[in-house]
Amino acid sequence: MADIPIGDFCSLNPLELFQQVTAQGEKVRSLKAEKAAKGEIDAAVQLLLSLKLSYKTATGEDYKAGSPPMDFAPISNGPGDAEVDDFVDPWTVQTSNAKGVDYDKLIVRFGSSKIDKDLINRIERITGQKPHHFLRRGIFFSHRDMNQILDTYENKKPFYLYTGRGPSSEAMHVGHLIPFIFTKWLQDVFNVPLVIQLTDDEKYLWKDLTIEKAYQYAIENIKDVIACGFDINKTFIFSDLHYLGLSPGFYKNIVKVQKHVTFNQVKGIFGFTDSDCIGKISFPAIQAAPSFSSSFPHIFNNRDDIQCLIPCAIDQDPYFRMTRDVAPRIGYPKPALLHSVFFPALQGAQTKMSASDPNSSIFLTDTPKQIKTKINKHAFSGGKDTIEEHRKYGGNCEVDVSYMYLSFFLEDDEKLEQIKQAYTSGALLTGELKKMLIETLQPLIAAHQQRRKQITDEMVKEFMTPRKLAFDF
Ligand code: TYM
Repeated sequence: MADIPIGDFCSLNPLELFQQVTAQGEKVRSLKAEKAAKGEIDAAVQLLLSLKLSYKTATGEDYKAGSPPMDFAPISNGPGDAEVDDFVDPWTVQTSNAKGVDYDKLIVRFGSSKIDKDLINRIERITGQKPHHFLRRGIFFSHRDMNQILDTYENKKPFYLYTGRGPSSEAMHVGHLIPFIFTKWLQDVFNVPLVIQLTDDEKYLWKDLTIEKAYQYAIENIKDVIACGFDINKTFIFSDLHYLGLSPGFYKNIVKVQKHVTFNQVKGIFGFTDSDCIGKISFPAIQAAPSFSSSFPHIFNNRDDIQCLIPCAIDQDPYFRMTRDVAPRIGYPKPALLHSVFFPALQGAQTKMSASDPNSSIFLTDTPKQIKTKINKHAFSGGKDTIEEHRKYGGNCEVDVSYMYLSFFLEDDEKLEQIKQAYTSGALLTGELKKMLIETLQPLIAAHQQRRKQITDEMVKEFMTPRKLAFDF
C-alpha cells in the first residue's frame, strides 16, 4: 500500500496538528463573528478543512474538539511537574514512593486504558480459559486497543504477537521473564504467530559493547527465551544485526517509519540530545517495524494488514506510542498493547530490577545459595524492627519486596491471600516470609536452568530461520 501524502503539514505531529485545527477553528469563528469579507472567511475555512484532513490522515481518526490524540500527547516526566515524581522511560524507572510507581496516574499520563474487570471477563469468555494470574492480580494492568484484538479474534480474523529483549548482558533477571511468561500464555490461549526481536543493535549503540559481543548476548538470551517454552512451529526469533540483512520487507518498513518521524518528535518522546549518536536517534524505527506484518513476508505471505499485539512492561510504551502515531500514515494498522508493572529491585519498589545492578537482581543463572543469600540480605522488608513490634503491629505487604515477588510467582491465589493476612496481622515474621519466597524461587529458577540446558545451537538456529510458521495467510 502506498504512503498517504501528508501535504504541507507533514512536519507536524498529531498533537501539533490538533492544536493547529483548534486554533484555526477559533479563527474561522471570530472572522464570522466580525463579519469579515467573504473571501477572507472562505480562505480560512479552506485552511481549516485542509488541516482537518491532515489530522485525519495522521491519526486515522476525525478531529474531535476537546479530545487531543492521546498516543502523541507529550509526557511530563520531568521534575518541573509538581504532581509527578515518578519517572518512567525505556532506560529509567524511578519513584520516591516505597509502594512503587503510581500506575493509575501513569495510565492517565501515558493515555492508555486500564485493564478492568470487564476486559478480563471478556478475555475469559472468549477464550474459555481462566485468566492468567498476571491479569487477575493487575500485574498486566494497562492496554491499548485490546478490545479491537478481541473483536478480531471473535470474527475469526488473524492477529499476531510481538515482544522483545535488549541483550545487554549474558544473564537475564527474573523481571525479564514477566513479559515472556505472559506472552507464552497468550500464544497458547489464542494460538497465533509470535515474533520476538532481540535488539542487539540497540545495546551496541547504548552500551560499551562490541557488535560481536552484543550479538553473542543475543544468542545467549535467545536460549533463555526459548526455555520459557515457546512453540518452534509458531515462533520466529530474530536478532536485528542478523535479520536486517536478510529481509528487504523489514528494512522497507524501518525506512517508512524513519520518513514519518522528525528529530523533534523523538527528542520529545525519548529525550535524545544533540550529542546523541545518530544511531540512537533512528533506532526507534527499528523497534517499531516488527509491529507491521509486512516486516515478515515469510510468515504473513506478504500481507500488510494483520494487526499485532505487543505484551511488554510499560517502560517500552514510548516506542509504541510513536509506532501507533506513524501506522495510519504509512497505511498499516496500529499495534495493540498489553502493559505490565515492573518487577521491583530487591532494595524496594522505588526502582525496577535492573541487570546493570547485580545486587538489585536475581538472575536466571543464580544458584540456590545465591538466591537465598540475596533475598535474606537485600530483599526490602515491610516488617517491624523487633519481633515484639511485628507481632503487635504486623507487617506492610504494600512495601515488602518478598511479598511483591510472591505475588508474581506464587500461582495459588488462596495461599497468597493467607500469607498476606498472616504477615499483616503479625503472625508471620519477615524471616518466614523470606523463606517462603526462597522456596518458591529456587525450584522455579532451577527448572528454567534445566530447560535451558536442553537448548542446542541447532534449535536456536531453527528458531532464527526466516520461514513459514504453522499458519496459512
Ligand atoms: P529489555 O531487555 O529492557 O526488557 C525485556 C522485556 O522485559 C521487560 N522488563 C521488565 N518487566 C518487568 N519488570 C522488570 N523489572 C522489567 N525490566 C524489563 C521490558 O518491558 C521488556 O518487555 N528495547 C527492548 C527490547 C524490545 C522489546 C520489543 C520489548 C524490542 N522490541 C517489543 C518489548 C516489546 C528492551 O531493551 O527490553
